[in-house]
Amino acid sequence: MASQEEVFKKLVSHCKEYGFVFPSSEIYDGLGAVYDYGQNGVELKNNIKKYWWDSMVLLNENVAGIDAAIFMHPTTWKASGHVDAFNDPLIDNKDSKKRYRADVLIEELLAKYDEKIQKEVDKAAKRFGESFDEAVFRSTNQRVLENQSRRDEIHARFVKALNESDLAGLKAIIEDYEVVCPISGTKNWTDVRQFNLMFSTEMGSTSEGAMKIYLRPETAQGIFVNYLNVQKTGRMKIPFGIAQIGKAFRNEIVARQFIFRMREFEQMEMQFFVRPGEEMQWFEFWKDRRLKWHKALGLGDHKYRFHDHEKLAHYANAATDIEFELPFGFKEVEGIHSRTDFDLGSHEKYSGKNIKYFDPELNQSYTPYVVETSIGLDRTFLSIMAAAYTEETLEGGDRRVVLKLPPALAPVKAAVLPLVKKDGLPEKAREIIDNLKFDFKCVYDEKDSIGKRYRRQDAIGTPFCITVDHQTIEDNTVTLRFRDNMQQERLPIDNLYSIIDGHTSMKQLFKKLL
Ligand code: GAP
Repeated sequence: MASQEEVFKKLVSHCKEYGFVFPSSEIYDGLGAVYDYGQNGVELKNNIKKYWWDSMVLLNENVAGIDAAIFMHPTTWKASGHVDAFNDPLIDNKDSKKRYRADVLIEELLAKYDEKIQKEVDKAAKRFGESFDEAVFRSTNQRVLENQSRRDEIHARFVKALNESDLAGLKAIIEDYEVVCPISGTKNWTDVRQFNLMFSTEMGSTSEGAMKIYLRPETAQGIFVNYLNVQKTGRMKIPFGIAQIGKAFRNEIVARQFIFRMREFEQMEMQFFVRPGEEMQWFEFWKDRRLKWHKALGLGDHKYRFHDHEKLAHYANAATDIEFELPFGFKEVEGIHSRTDFDLGSHEKYSGKNIKYFDPELNQSYTPYVVETSIGLDRTFLSIMAAAYTEETLEGGDRRVVLKLPPALAPVKAAVLPLVKKDGLPEKAREIIDNLKFDFKCVYDEKDSIGKRYRRQDAIGTPFCITVDHQTIEDNTVTLRFRDNMQQERLPIDNLYSIIDGHTSMKQLFKKLL
């Protein structure tokens, strides 16, 4: 069986070969951690956006959308804390000259202890069979206890160093536990330094005194500075939310793992404004709602878990991640944060403007508290692709690669295939597309054998292939092939709409959310 690393490599090349994701400016050898979406990738991405947007703005009367500019007044980022605190701790290996995030090196060290413990547990479970009691084993086995105690010790030091921004403390962990550079294999490390992740550029001509501005590192601030505009013009009453989809930019130190960590990426964020003191109840509400949104996709409930933050960001009083099991482990796809009144309070202070909300029910003004849901579009795309990518051996030994994408998100919903390129079959196929194309993205394909054409559609996750043959001309019936089980059904052309709609409509997903 292929290792997870091999599966991931195959997924990356599949994304390129089938027009999902290309390295940016590839003819110039690419640009680190920047990617372009191809003809199928952009359709999948747009469908994910629609699923998210409608789940927020269509299904919730009290959530409205906006589209704020990427450039914002530079004081925004001073007020939000990003100028002073949006840093990652970086460390270099002097021999390989490779740069790492010190916190990631330590997280990987912790994961190694978890793996060691899990291996012991798995071995024992095999040995003892049915009678195995994992809790007893974990609390009595000497090797497990030693590893667990070492892990707890590192973890406690790690959390303390992060919370105290103690860079020397982070380095000491790396040294004390003999973390080596995966490239050089040496422990020859520099000190840990803070590195601000924001990209900056200049606005205005230099002669008139250009202003240093930032490319936004999160979309959220565009919502905060507009919240009263939306509240007043939309006559919104607390609790209410504002949703936005847009690009964000971060000068990531270590940009690996394909589109998982990019320097230019897209976020889908929703800020929910609540009464002070009610934020924890809304935090729980949105945790539940967001997990349902993910699970409704049908990629496997066991692939998701919550992970509470070790260190709360400067603005949060509670924070958790929704993690998804990717080929390289459970990784963050979405963050849910209780941001208190930090951002609005700070913007009020820096701008000198009163941006308090007047609550007509309480007859008082206050700065709302905010619960935020923040999901990475590219990471969602990657999770869906990774879960959908399937290699199958068919009867007779043939192999196929099929993307078992949720049908509502598939880039192409139906491919229409004339069996031969003559006898009026192409014209009939075009006629079918002309009737379906107002509702579904369809493609026409007449090249190669029908088997090869099916494989091409499987590889991009098309839920339906419609084959037009000589019988179609006689009785207006076609063969409909289902992607996942490859079953075929003969049916009248008039039935196509309702079958395709029944399987691919986003309504099926939305109904699972409420
Ligand atoms: N407004 C809150 C915020 O930005 P975050 O946890 O830093 O929180 C939210 O980012 C989400 O954005 C993450 O869960 C992740 O999915 C996505 N994200 C963050 N950095 C990313 C990067 N460099 N590349 C791709 N996605 C990223």
